Amino acid sequence: MRIPLVAGNWKMNKTIGEALTFSSGLSAFLKEETRKPGWPEILIFPPFTALPALSGALAETEVKVGAQNLSWEKRGAFTGEISGSMLKDAGCEYVIAGHSERRHIFGETDEVVGRKVRAALDADLHPILCVGETFEQREAGETLAVCRTMTEMGLAPVTPDEVGSVVVAYEPVWAIGTGRDAKPDDAEEVIDSIRDTMARMFKDAAKDVRILYGGSVKSINIRGFMLKETIDGALIGGSSLDPEEFLRIVVEVQKTRPAPKSFGQGE
Ligand code: PGA
Repeated sequence: MRIPLVAGNWKMNKTIGEALTFSSGLSAFLKEETRKPGWPEILIFPPFTALPALSGALAETEVKVGAQNLSWEKRGAFTGEISGSMLKDAGCEYVIAGHSERRHIFGETDEVVGRKVRAALDADLHPILCVGETFEQREAGETLAVCRTMTEMGLAPVTPDEVGSVVVAYEPVWAIGTGRDAKPDDAEEVIDSIRDTMARMFKDAAKDVRILYGGSVKSINIRGFMLKETIDGALIGGSSLDPEEFLRIVVEVQKTRPAPKSFGQGE
């Protein structure tokens, strides 16, 4: 059973105070609304500095927090790095590995991303592995091959027993922060192919892995993606910074693809 997931990636935005202002808008809404059935799982990825404050502020809600990056190392002389266990300590349940900005601006390779996925699992965090082609790769007809390689290398250190706790996000690089979203049909084709790749690697266990779409998602286009059964939710950048717009997206997901059991209704 794959529960839809709506995840907001704030990137390098918001101070601690701004994160708390966001969460008070969210908490007020959630207190009234969470009795409605079918809520997706909701996740926020603030910058590292706001993690403890935000996870504390959201403790009374079912909203979870995660980190945007982690070190592949466990501890030691790695100036500027943050380990999985530190993130766990700061209240994280999830961590993003291999976001395209990490790959393209900071030079993370598929091998590094695989090590980060492993480090996340070792720290009892759910990794969100991001994969996606550049515009040039799409134009050259390489989209499926590129995403296959990124999936294979990112998940190489994962066992079939573990893969159910991994999430994959298909984020075409040309759609991130550009306002040019992918067509739901195109996203579906790539996501189906990513699931086929995982089925070759993990057999039946691949069925449990949630695959999100990311890239210029807004409240006005999320429905088209959620109507595709293969798409399990969204990873949202710019539109996650405003609590009202973020909640509009969450509500659209709830309406379009009600979760079999609401995240807010306990076990
Ligand atoms: P965007 O970013 O929604 O601003 O396009 C998506 C992402 O980077 O995850």
